[in-house]
Amino acid sequence: MSRAAPARSSPRRAAPLPWLPPGVVVGGLLPALVLLLDARSGALGANPVQRAILQTGLLTLALLALSLACTPLRLLTSWTWPARVRKALGLLAFVYAALHFALYLFDHGFTPQVVLDDVLKRPFVTAGFAALVLLVPLAATSTRSAVKRLGFARWQRLHQLAYAAVALGALHYWWGVKKDHTGPLIAALIVAALFAVRLLWGRGRRRKKAKAGMRF
Ligand code: HEM
Repeated sequence: MSRAAPARSSPRRAAPLPWLPPGVVVGGLLPALVLLLDARSGALGANPVQRAILQTGLLTLALLALSLACTPLRLLTSWTWPARVRKALGLLAFVYAALHFALYLFDHGFTPQVVLDDVLKRPFVTAGFAALVLLVPLAATSTRSAVKRLGFARWQRLHQLAYAAVALGALHYWWGVKKDHTGPLIAALIVAALFAVRLLWGRGRRRKKAKAGMRF
């Protein structure tokens, strides 16, 4: 009896630009490596911990804004690659936020009472801490299995928290800077643009849905 030839598994369609998400992760981790090398060589100046806190804070905010810019960019251009790097950018933002917080804890001697007092008393720190807290469930539900478990609609609603996190991050930046507010102003304008695109797009989608509903 002749054995049937084993069915050839149909090759999975290669994802376009498969190197892109890992490339973004590697590229996104380079500033951490540069920071480490600068710290080792003494290039971070008189207060290296403060300098590292500032740099990781800025990187967190930039990566968070970039991850939120992916969907508008995809909608405006019909390119698909922004959607493929969104998750990597969001996770990198979380990694830098955790590093930023770890450096802050180090700067405060890892003393829970001192940190708690600071978080409760200084609105600038409260805003940063709240942004970090919001990022935790987002990082924890970044896997495909989490999307399945929650259901796409609930997962999507949960991930709207990224907008609150970026707004709190920008506020934290604004309150934290003492003299020149150019940087925080640019951050605030970028965040405002992200919110505007989000609102306009959401309104357009609701209008389309309402129209489709009227046809039945
Ligand atoms: C998503 C979360 C966060 C973002 C986006 C963020 C962002 C930033 C930014 C942009 C800066 C200012 C950099 C500059 O002045 O050039 C900064 C500074 C700072 N952040 Fe955060 N931050 C976050 C969370 C936190 C948390 C959780 C803490 C502590 C509880 C914290 C404590 C600080 C401190 C102390 C500074 C000032 C450092 C200094 O001037 O010496 N941040 N952060």
